[in-house]
Amino acid sequence: MNTSSSVSDRDIAHEVARRRTFGIISHPDAGKTTLTEKLLLFSGAIQLAGTVKARKSARHATSDWMDIEKQRGISVASSVMQFEYRDHVINLLDTPGHQDFSEDTYRVLTAVDTALMVIDAARGVEAQTIKLLDVCRMRHTPIITFMNKLDRETRDPLELLDEVESVLKIQCAPITWPIGMGKNFRGVYHLLRDEVMLFEAGSERADQEFEVISGIDNPRLAERFPQEMEQLKMEVELVHGASNSFDAEQFLAGTLTPVFFGSAINNFGVREILDALLDWAQPPGARDATIRTVAPAEKPFSGFVFKIQANMDPAHRDRIAFLRVCSGRFEKGMKLRHLRLQRDVRISSVVTFMASSREQVEEAYAGDIIGLPNHGNMQIGDSFSEGELLQFTGIPYFAPDLFRMVRIKNPLKLKQLHKGLQQLGEEGAVQVFKPLQGSDLILGAVGVLQFDVVASRLMNEYGVDAVFEGTSISSARWVTSEDKRMLAEFEKSLSHNLSHDAAGNLAYLATSAVNLRLTEERWPKLVFHTTREHA
Ligand code: G4P
Repeated sequence: MNTSSSVSDRDIAHEVARRRTFGIISHPDAGKTTLTEKLLLFSGAIQLAGTVKARKSARHATSDWMDIEKQRGISVASSVMQFEYRDHVINLLDTPGHQDFSEDTYRVLTAVDTALMVIDAARGVEAQTIKLLDVCRMRHTPIITFMNKLDRETRDPLELLDEVESVLKIQCAPITWPIGMGKNFRGVYHLLRDEVMLFEAGSERADQEFEVISGIDNPRLAERFPQEMEQLKMEVELVHGASNSFDAEQFLAGTLTPVFFGSAINNFGVREILDALLDWAQPPGARDATIRTVAPAEKPFSGFVFKIQANMDPAHRDRIAFLRVCSGRFEKGMKLRHLRLQRDVRISSVVTFMASSREQVEEAYAGDIIGLPNHGNMQIGDSFSEGELLQFTGIPYFAPDLFRMVRIKNPLKLKQLHKGLQQLGEEGAVQVFKPLQGSDLILGAVGVLQFDVVASRLMNEYGVDAVFEGTSISSARWVTSEDKRMLAEFEKSLSHNLSHDAAGNLAYLATSAVNLRLTEERWPKLVFHTTREHA
């Protein structure tokens, strides 16, 4: 037996086991940035509060995407944050929100193993969270829930759990329970440990320890908070009777979420979610590829691209392809097979993402993200390996919610327009639909900024002055059927509502939710998909 190879196999398995890769899902203003910062503070990855926040405000100070583009270096650095905590390597992938909300946000979720759902406890479940959770559900991603802002007047905690269960269709297992709220927020009771952690406002330091008193019946608690403890005991009884207890299997299947209460800005309850991530969430698992399932500790390297960030420097048209490592060990200078192009590439200048800077990566394992600089030849969904023909699956396109008709001012530029849109489509900047009738192209996006980015990039990179106009389209569905005759009949009867996407797939563009529902009902033998796989 070759000892060195078996040691190295063990090393890979060890590195995989200590990794956790997750993303945060939340509605804007729920506290994602604040929480990210506190998580980094805990790990010692950053020393000063305000670092992540400053990045965010730098980007928010402007609504003009060109200015946002100037910040690209910053946004690439904060796209992935890697830090260590309790001898684990944690990769936190940024899920762009606010005006950056785009298909990237969805796709990032296909590259994480666990999601942390942050809910503003005063507002409850909000629109963007619903959408993002739908994406997590497709992959049965385990969800940890953090109810934030308990230092403010919030909704009733039981009511919040009810809302999560009914709106997001996921069972809740409270792990901590709040004692009071707003001005009277005293802390949380840990239902599993039978401990009360007392709240103190204004903790900006990483090593903040909160006072812990064990036992809900501890007389010290009754002495200090007589009223609150009475109330807590009643609530805990209710919670024990009415809600689910934590079940690791259901959590990993994505059907039950452990729920924590706290206040990100006060660093309260943050350590508990990090611990849950380490103790309950899984290290990177096996990933499906077209020919087989790939185990993370396999020795040969493999991975897939889930995001492209362009225009780091418009003069050079350079791009960074974000690749999630699925197996093996990546080493700097390694030769990799770019499977779609059937070409070997030597990856010498790879970037990894640390909390505060962009650094050269020496090695990476399953669950890690590496950035591959390129000039536009890498696409979302591309797989890389050491030679085996492994095309990873499960990196979908998502049905867009926003649509624009695209026209050009100078008809002589039509060819450039098509070329530009083809490339921008492949990069995932926007989706392009070509109606079966008529010649105007239709663009689809999930975030409105995507259109601004496309218009500006068409102008700067392809010299095309495009005008985008509103359309009456409200949603898109990819249509397939086993019954080819039925599909042909559908194409003929509804050609005015049908398009081909950039890869030639048939898509139905509905004018309203009612229109979509009626069409689905009228054509029961057809399947209307909200996602499609990368070709
Ligand atoms: P986001 O990334 O999800 O959009 O949210 P972000 O962290 O930026 O937080 C949104 C607002 O909520 C911020 O206030 C932030 O300070 C506040 N916040 C976050 N966590 C808590 C919390 O635990 N308690 C309270 N009371 N507020 C919280 P802002 O006024 O928009 O910004 P700032 O001026 O405070 O920076």
